[in-house]
Amino acid sequence: MVRIKSYLREVKPYVPGKAIDEVKRELGLEEIIKLASNESPFPPFPSAVEAIEKAIPTLNEYPLSDSYYLREALAEKFDFPIDQIVVGAGTDELIGLTARCLLGPGDEAVMPAPAFIMYPIATELTGATAVQVSLRDNRVDLKEILKAVNERTKIVFLDNPNNPTGTIFTKRDLEWFLEKVPNHVAILLDQAYYEFVTSPDFPDGLDFMKRGYENVIVTRTFSKIYSLAGLRVGYGFFPRELAEALNKARGPFNVGTLSQVAALASLNDQEEVFKRKTLINNERDRIVFELKKRGFNCTPTQANFVFFETPFHSEEVYQALLKKGVIVRPGHIFGPGYEKYIRLTIGTREDNDAFLKALDSIIEEASQQ
Ligand SMILES: Cc1ncc(COP(=O)(O)O)c(C=O)c1O
Repeated sequence: MVRIKSYLREVKPYVPGKAIDEVKRELGLEEIIKLASNESPFPPFPSAVEAIEKAIPTLNEYPLSDSYYLREALAEKFDFPIDQIVVGAGTDELIGLTARCLLGPGDEAVMPAPAFIMYPIATELTGATAVQVSLRDNRVDLKEILKAVNERTKIVFLDNPNNPTGTIFTKRDLEWFLEKVPNHVAILLDQAYYEFVTSPDFPDGLDFMKRGYENVIVTRTFSKIYSLAGLRVGYGFFPRELAEALNKARGPFNVGTLSQVAALASLNDQEEVFKRKTLINNERDRIVFELKKRGFNCTPTQANFVFFETPFHSEEVYQALLKKGVIVRPGHIFGPGYEKYIRLTIGTREDNDAFLKALDSIIEEASQQ
């Protein structure tokens, strides 16, 4: 009999949100709106589609192993050394590779809870221990995270904005934290939602790297504002030696040709990024206004989703919305204390209107019971 490493038995698998087709099949509904996975509601950029079409005839060849042209463009756009930039099959892969390069049995990684669910999974897959530090008032609590750091700690994962709450910590908070945390600890700043942020207090992790904080890592993604979640492209800025290690640990062709060309074309189309940021953020403001008008408590968000509290259990709200063809994320899956929260991804204006209509009819039904 094969024997897997014993610690793998304890790792809880990632559970994705329900897919549109699955819900259609199960409930026999024609129209489904998915506002559950913090994806973009818009199709890929026209420039990305064009680049994909152009690259199709080359698919008999392996992709560029080092995603060279995409890394070159990232190096230029962000004014950062190309040999410290690594491209992966989504941020997911970069998080997993970083864990694999820095952690092993006996080590610890510290992270907020709730946060992006791949942090504990990636940590535990190496045999290391995930030390989860509760949020305070739906915010990442850097003071408590610092207290949880010890000589066994090798990584601190910090999503900013945080998923699922959408809150941020500020430049001052980060500077305070980086000054205090021992420099043998890698600080992975996951900025998956960075393009949606409007707060002037938001810390751009790259500025900190450029200022000489040698233990900082910054990751970003093409899955959110760039509308390429299905192609799996993420990128990260790493300390030089760690970038070299990641390049040994990753698969030689980890990012496919279509993913590379689509990401490059999208990166070169910042006008489209700005357009979409404006559309999503205007809708975000409108949804927050509408939710507050209905008396729901909304956590201040800087991302493309909103975490709000209703008087009902989140599973009830989730199921009731599902029956009306709207998929959201119920808060109870994020742990104790979040049973009344819903995480709602901002959709198109039409999607959001359909959500509000479904929500209103649920409130109406509840008031009649
Ligand atoms: C904080 C955070 N990081 C990373 C990701 C995953 O990004 P990618 O699609 O690049 O793997 C997500 C996805 O929801 C996220 O919320």
